[in-house]
Amino acid sequence: MIRKYTFGKPFPTGAVVRELKAETGPVPYFRVSREEGRVILRLDLSPEEIIFGLGESVRGINKRGHTYRSWNMDITNHTEDKASLYGSHNFLLFYRPDRMIGLYVDDPGLVSFDLGETRLSEAVITSENGDLDLYVIENGSLKETVREFRELIGRSYLPPRWAFGYIQSRWGYTGEENVRAVVKSHREKHIPLDGVCLDIDYMVDFKNFTWKPSAFPDWKRFNEEMKREHIRLIPIIDAGIKQEKGYEPYDTGLARDAFCRKEDGTPFTAAVWPGLCCFPDFLNADARKWFGDLYRPLLEEGVEGFWNDMNEPSLFYSPEALRDCYRQALEQCERVNDYQGMWSLKSSLDGLANSGKDFRSFYHRTEQGRIRHDRVHNLYGAKMVQASAEGIRRCLPGRRYLLFSRSSFTGSHRDGGIWQGDNYSWWEHIRLAMQMMPGLNMCGYLFSGCDLGGFALNTTEDLLARFLQLGVFLPLMRNHSALYTREQEIYRFDSWEKMRDTITVRYALLPFLYSEFMKAALRNEMYFRPLAFDYPEDSRALRVEDQLMLGEDCMIAPIYEQNAGGRYVYLPEDMLMIRFRAAGDYDLIPLEKGDHYLEFGLHEFPLFVRKNRPALLCAGGESTDELDDTSLTALGWMEGAAEYDLYRDDGLQAEPKLEEHLNRIRVEGKPGVFRYTLS
Ligand code: NOJ
Repeated sequence: MIRKYTFGKPFPTGAVVRELKAETGPVPYFRVSREEGRVILRLDLSPEEIIFGLGESVRGINKRGHTYRSWNMDITNHTEDKASLYGSHNFLLFYRPDRMIGLYVDDPGLVSFDLGETRLSEAVITSENGDLDLYVIENGSLKETVREFRELIGRSYLPPRWAFGYIQSRWGYTGEENVRAVVKSHREKHIPLDGVCLDIDYMVDFKNFTWKPSAFPDWKRFNEEMKREHIRLIPIIDAGIKQEKGYEPYDTGLARDAFCRKEDGTPFTAAVWPGLCCFPDFLNADARKWFGDLYRPLLEEGVEGFWNDMNEPSLFYSPEALRDCYRQALEQCERVNDYQGMWSLKSSLDGLANSGKDFRSFYHRTEQGRIRHDRVHNLYGAKMVQASAEGIRRCLPGRRYLLFSRSSFTGSHRDGGIWQGDNYSWWEHIRLAMQMMPGLNMCGYLFSGCDLGGFALNTTEDLLARFLQLGVFLPLMRNHSALYTREQEIYRFDSWEKMRDTITVRYALLPFLYSEFMKAALRNEMYFRPLAFDYPEDSRALRVEDQLMLGEDCMIAPIYEQNAGGRYVYLPEDMLMIRFRAAGDYDLIPLEKGDHYLEFGLHEFPLFVRKNRPALLCAGGESTDELDDTSLTALGWMEGAAEYDLYRDDGLQAEPKLEEHLNRIRVEGKPGVFRYTLS
């Protein structure tokens, strides 16, 4: 059951697709107060209460004990003290044996969630806007509560099947020659590959919708050449449009009045990669149409996928903020004769990027009238995604496209996926990437992944190997790294053949993982779940932080510690462990419910399946176009017969019907570990 409560005059975010009448009575469970325009909700927490949700955020799967802030930020250092990342996903589940509450706070401004940080026994949720819709969801189980929420916010984005292939990316691929060499190395070494991302280096002076003629002399021909290699090029598009007369998107944007304006009516500008930029008013329908149409030339040249970046929006500095900081620094210089002055001087530049003052200095023109940016800040990236998706759909009607964004707000899960932004080449970021997935899935972001190998800092061979092993199961499997860091295409490492073997597992599992993904998306379910969702009665399973349920009946337990020769795994029931080394090289080990220490060499990793629920492997291929899935091998611990509903479609149709694509597979055999080839 969902109940809606309205406070003030909320801005229509578009997150919710179902019309509900607001209740007039008090909000159940929460103590609600209004203080200086804010709305504050308080909930007493019992000692055993667990809190799931909040999508993209730091720390564990259980969010209790920290304060999170929904305030989309370009933030590179994802350490546990952080309160915000790039997206805002205000959905929470409060769970204890006698009570379960789903809560969605539909508010595009700053919302803070003190989930037991100040007082372990209390959650305090504060909406700064004070104008919001609140949805309280109560349903029998965690799974059902999430399903009901997902029905409320509408079906998840469906990427094309090729997007589940391995994607190579790097900030620093400067042109055709570069990309060609990367593709050649993969193909020569038989490393499966489906896509190459083009970062800002492909553009002329980092200007959106341009490409360097010297580096890409014939874009169309190069696209065709890559397609013959079964490679899709995936260019980046940033939010800011360079302020430069004669640059078409700037001129047309200005003529269409498509940019955000300051109080005095002039366009708001701030520096990003190209220098001073204007910012499309994505909250304005006409500006969205204009921006979406800018994708057309690239689509006409054969591009089928994009990634949208810097759309929190990221502001390096505005001229105003630069002046303020400079003035402050000068003032501090005069006082620098003591240690406090020294620290103040050092921190005087801290407020330069993404300053709150800047976010309060410009406006959107919406159907609801003019609105100051900070009140709707968290919608900016999501509305960029909407603009892009609508533009792409106008060009490719009825077809699926690849689109993933850095910034997001609930609602954009219907138009695209997201990646988790600028992680580091740190071991703990393997674990963090995994821990974010269920929260993202709850909010409909099924198509997601992290930068495998780590974006910032230099990766190491063992770290990349372990990242890839997690990547095998992430819907978006992309290796991406930052400029000036160690190059991290797998063939640059001694053990590249072993890493290739890991990628072959992805391709062998691809029809199965795709099937699990599509079923989850079309049924409003989760592809990744905390164990608690499947074993709510099991007090051990409730608190597992480093394993996830995958699809209907599988479980993953990635290895995320350096030099580990194995790890502890908790099995909530008897399961078969498939310990992979390569697509055709694995051990099948039946294990009983309980705790196990399991050994994994550097290039070994597990997938666990429940009894009678097989995982399927195909013969693989070096790209999804060439994937041979004519015969499938079922790996399972079968007792008698097992059945599996395999979802199979052309991987492209935009609105597939689940029932039309399900194929029931029946596997019969003697009790025991089982391997069976279907034709
Ligand atoms: C920031 C993005 O998060 C990163 O992935 C990208 O490489 C850089 N911008 C450069 O475009």
